[in-house]
Amino acid sequence: MLEKILQIEKETAALEFQNAQDVENFRLKYLSRKGIINELLDEFRAMGPEQKRETGKPLNALKARLEEILKSHESLKQAGTKTDHSEDLSLPVDGFKVGSRHPITLVKNRLCDIFYSLGFDVSEGPEVEDDWHNFSALNFAEDHPARDMQDTFFTGDFVLRTHTSSVQIREMEKGKPPFRLIMPGRVYRNEAVSSRSNCFFHQIEGLYIDEGVSFADLKQTLYYFVQQFFGEGTKVRFRASYFPFTEPSAEMDIWAGTDTEENRRLTKGTGWLEVLGCGMVHPNVLKNCGIDPEKYSGFAFGMGIDRIALLKYGITDIRDMFHNDVRMLEQLTGAEQ
Ligand code: PHE
Repeated sequence: MLEKILQIEKETAALEFQNAQDVENFRLKYLSRKGIINELLDEFRAMGPEQKRETGKPLNALKARLEEILKSHESLKQAGTKTDHSEDLSLPVDGFKVGSRHPITLVKNRLCDIFYSLGFDVSEGPEVEDDWHNFSALNFAEDHPARDMQDTFFTGDFVLRTHTSSVQIREMEKGKPPFRLIMPGRVYRNEAVSSRSNCFFHQIEGLYIDEGVSFADLKQTLYYFVQQFFGEGTKVRFRASYFPFTEPSAEMDIWAGTDTEENRRLTKGTGWLEVLGCGMVHPNVLKNCGIDPEKYSGFAFGMGIDRIALLKYGITDIRDMFHNDVRMLEQLTGAEQ
């Protein structure tokens, strides 16, 4: 018996545990109901008093030592990890992190979906533009203040486009009417950066050219969009405006309300949020693109995506969207996809 005890002491002292399975095997072999220790205890009970006196102490000590070994490796069993940090295929999978879409992308996708359902195709153009596509073809006079350094980033003969209306021109030059397009993209203006405006922002341009398109079509299209996007019953107002490339021109506001401080701030206290500029495409613009204004007419609109995203996600500072802090973006959109 004493020999056996010694032998077990030796073999268990050298044992190394790699993982939970090793710990469990150890327990089964030595400390389970049918394990070696219990066998020895059975033998012990059958001994005479003399022998008992001799083996009792070492046997108890062995049992205690083995229990201690088991206990000291218990954490391995719970965590299921190996001490050498190599892979344990029995571990539950660590959830794959998918990230989240940017609020601008979410709004853009939703806007595109709505117009797509009305039969509009999506198209894109370059962010670096020439004067013709950004200004001249759009009927801007040579001395129009928008060409001023104040508003535009010039890069040699080119500009960073100040609006997505340049894509209208590219599309009309390329194809033949009818056109039914929406054109999302990033635009740039040399403006003071604040919580409400940035030196770059995002627009979606809309263009519909065909025979007999009227201002009523424009209004109906925009009404439909507003009800779809902002919800049934959302109040809308049109204000007369001016753009060189549309005649007549208007701006459309939606009623955001004044009930929250955020909405008061976003709307400068009026409750109305300006979301887009629009109008009937100016005959000069059609002519510049080789389209007969006697035969064709149509409307265009351009809306700012950023403002809409601010409203939709209750963002108070436009700059927060562009720090590219994933935690912030996830929080803004609730990891919406
Ligand atoms: N391009 C104009 C802007 O940047 C918006 C607009 C687009 C107006 C199309 C009328 C028609 O503000």
